[in-house]
This record gives sequence, C-alpha cells and structure tokens, in this order.
Amino acid sequence: MGTGCAWDAERYEGKHSYVWQFGAGLVDVLASREGERILDVGCGTGQLTAEIAARGAQVVGLDSSTNMLGQARQNYPGQKFVLADAANFRFPEPFDAVFSNAALHWVKNAEGAVESIALALRPAGRFVAEFGGKGNIASIMSALRAVFGAEAEQRCPWIYPSIGEYAPLLERHRLEVREARLFDRPTQVEEEDGMENWLRMFCGRYFEGLSVEGTQEKIRELVDILRPDRYRDGVWTLDYRRLRVAAVKV
Ligand SMILES: C[S@@+](CC[C@H](N)C(=O)[O-])C[C@H]1O[C@@H](n2cnc3c(N)ncnc32)[C@H](O)[C@@H]1O
Repeated sequence: MGTGCAWDAERYEGKHSYVWQFGAGLVDVLASREGERILDVGCGTGQLTAEIAARGAQVVGLDSSTNMLGQARQNYPGQKFVLADAANFRFPEPFDAVFSNAALHWVKNAEGAVESIALALRPAGRFVAEFGGKGNIASIMSALRAVFGAEAEQRCPWIYPSIGEYAPLLERHRLEVREARLFDRPTQVEEEDGMENWLRMFCGRYFEGLSVEGTQEKIRELVDILRPDRYRDGVWTLDYRRLRVAAVKV
C-alpha cells in the first residue's frame, strides 16, 4: 500500500474515521499560526489538512495514493493536494512545519522520509507526527504470523519503530527531538465485522495474489484467532500503540 497497492478511500471514510478523529489532538500540538506554511504528509482524504487550514495556515496535503487524493480533492476543492512519495519528495519553498498523522509507519524507507521532511523545513521549523510505534497491533501481528508463516514478514507493509530507533534518525537529519512518547491507544470498533473491516482496509498487501475466496478464508482464520482476546460484548478492541514525536530543525 502507499506506493504499491490501492487504498479504498470509501471504506476509509466510512469505517475508519477514528484515525483522523484521534489525530485532532495532534493538530493542537502542531499549534499552527495564521499564515504559516504547513505540509501534511500522508494526508489521506484530507480531514486534518482541512482542519489545519481552518486555523488559518496555508496547507499542502501530500499523499502517494491517487484514490485517497481524489477523495481529498472532492471533499475540499479549494485545498492544495500533491501526489508524491513521502520517502522521496522535494519542494522549492520551505515550510514552517511538517505534520503527519497515522502515515509514517507505512513508509518503510524511514530514512528517506525523514531526510525529505528535514529538507522541507526552514531553520527552526517544526516536525510534529504520530504513527504506529514499537508493539503496535501486537495481537494482529501475531495472528498474521500464525496464518501467513514465513511470508508474513515479507508481506508486512509497516515499520513500528521504538523511540530509541526513531530519535537518532531524526537527530542525524538535524531535527532536534523535543518530545517522543510511545503510548497505548486501545481503539474500540463497535461492529461484529469490525476486525474484518480493519483487515480489508489495511492488510491488502497480505492478500495480494489470492482469490476472493482465498482472501475470505484467510480473513476468517485471522478473525477466529483474534476473537477470544479482542472481541467482548459486541466490541472489538484494536491494540494500537502510537509513537508521537515533536522536533525542531536546527
Ligand atoms: C491511515 S491513512 C492516514 C491519513 C490521514 N493522515 C488521516 O489522519 O486521516 C495513511 C495515509 O498514508 C498514505 N501513505 C502511505 N504510504 C505513503 C507514502 N510512501 N507516501 C505518501 N503517502 C503515503 C496513504 O496513501 C494513506 O492516505
């Protein structure tokens, strides 16, 4: 996904709005000021891009999915969005801040992403981001390993770094780390098919090459493994763990 496989913008907006709803707190951390130039990396369908713009900044949303950007443009026609890879982008004019919610764990080339972000910032510019951190969705990762065996690692589209891994990467690119926090965010989905929806939304890479029936079978196996631990009283709980970082370009 991201640069490889298609994102289903309709499923994202319909069933996974909690992703940007949780991101609202991160917009407060960004604390953008009137007229600032802000870049939103992995902007998806644009809800947080628009939220930052509503606070008076000039925002550019960047994403590598034509589906997600198409929906973003339809949602917010006056807003600027660009198609680019977070692992390798350049802008001619510097930004006052780079923001990113729930996207950077999809960018396996973290070094390329951090280099691009650092180069996009003016001196003293801010980088504020949140994404999956070490131990994120541990139960789902374990179920994926049980179902896909040795292929699980190969097919995994994510990186979930620890603070110890990510902070030095930022520092190597002259981003001074002011805050780094790894925290649990158990996320509840109140639908019987909530786990299936999640797997269909985010695990496309694992099902690539499988038939419709083959995919359904794998999803059934995964859901059966996860149900005893993760489904209670009609509610699925996703064991999200996020890494939040705030840094300044020096
Ligand atoms: C879970 S969505 C989050 C979207 C948005 N930030 C939000 O909070 O709703 C992750 C987004 O990251 C984007 N993405 C994944 N890999 C990317 C890459 N290499 N470059 C740019 N965007 C990427 C996806 O296309 C998707 O829109």
